Amino acid sequence: MRHLLSAADLDLATATAVLDLAEEMQQVQSRPVKKLPALRGRTIVNIFFEDSTRTRTSFEIAGKWLSADTINVSAKGSSVSKGESLRDTMMTLDAMGVDAFVIRHSSSGAAAQVAGWVKAQVVNAGDGQHEHPTQALLDAYAMRQHFRTLGAAPAPGATEFAGKRIAIVGDLLHSRVVRSNVLLQRTLGGEVVLVAPPTLLPTGVENWGCEVTGDLDAVLGTCDVVMMLRVQRERMAGGYFPTEREYSERFGLTEERLAALKPGAAICHPGPMNRGVEISSAAADAANSLVLDQVAAGVAVRMSVLYHLLGSDEGAVH
Ligand code: CP
Repeated sequence: MRHLLSAADLDLATATAVLDLAEEMQQVQSRPVKKLPALRGRTIVNIFFEDSTRTRTSFEIAGKWLSADTINVSAKGSSVSKGESLRDTMMTLDAMGVDAFVIRHSSSGAAAQVAGWVKAQVVNAGDGQHEHPTQALLDAYAMRQHFRTLGAAPAPGATEFAGKRIAIVGDLLHSRVVRSNVLLQRTLGGEVVLVAPPTLLPTGVENWGCEVTGDLDAVLGTCDVVMMLRVQRERMAGGYFPTEREYSERFGLTEERLAALKPGAAICHPGPMNRGVEISSAAADAANSLVLDQVAAGVAVRMSVLYHLLGSDEGAVH
């Protein structure tokens, strides 16, 4: 793997290998000394042009636990705030001998553009409304662990996702998480059901190969995972729905809707959550909520991704 720009970059063998190695990486999390020598001497720059808590911190931890030198750069405090172009900023950092960039940017396609400019390897940590492939991987990891706790082993040759229905609910229009999850589940074999008001459906969603509905209550009891997406107020200029209260009544995972979930169904949310809007506190903190499992998986999965990119001579460019 040269870069990870899209969940579509991952074939079944590679996605499975990333998830399997993440299981080994997760064991490091419970050790008193959280350090492996795998990426000693490698330099990773986490460059974030948009805010982040989970992704930036977990990539930094992942790099450090693999013994890489990790440097964080944000737009504020860098020469970007003086008007330097993205290309000049990235070429400048690349000239310092960086091995990998982990980049988040508000423009869709920014990570792919950067990959065309630099010698270093590039991981897309979220580009606008386009993709967030490591989020989809960590979601898959948390779901797979959950399916395993339910006990039923997959049929020979099938994945744990075969026959599983995953509802992704809410602000699909502005979500990079939904695109990456749809692409990854197409590879892993899960069936994705998209639930949103018509105003929050992306153009062309009918070609994504997923069931699409505006009736959350009709599908709630049929899904093995219900993934609630954040209402992205910062990307909303117009009125996409009348009020947050009405949105919550129709599309929120309210306390009442918890009782309607399929037995054994899990609740996911990539975070950050708007409690009381798309998800109630009762749902976010429920015993079947995987929200913190997703966060924990983020470190292990990102360790695995960094190792797959940088941990072999094949991937090395310097
Ligand atoms: N899920 C996610 O990308 O969270 P952050 O914006 O906090 O990184």
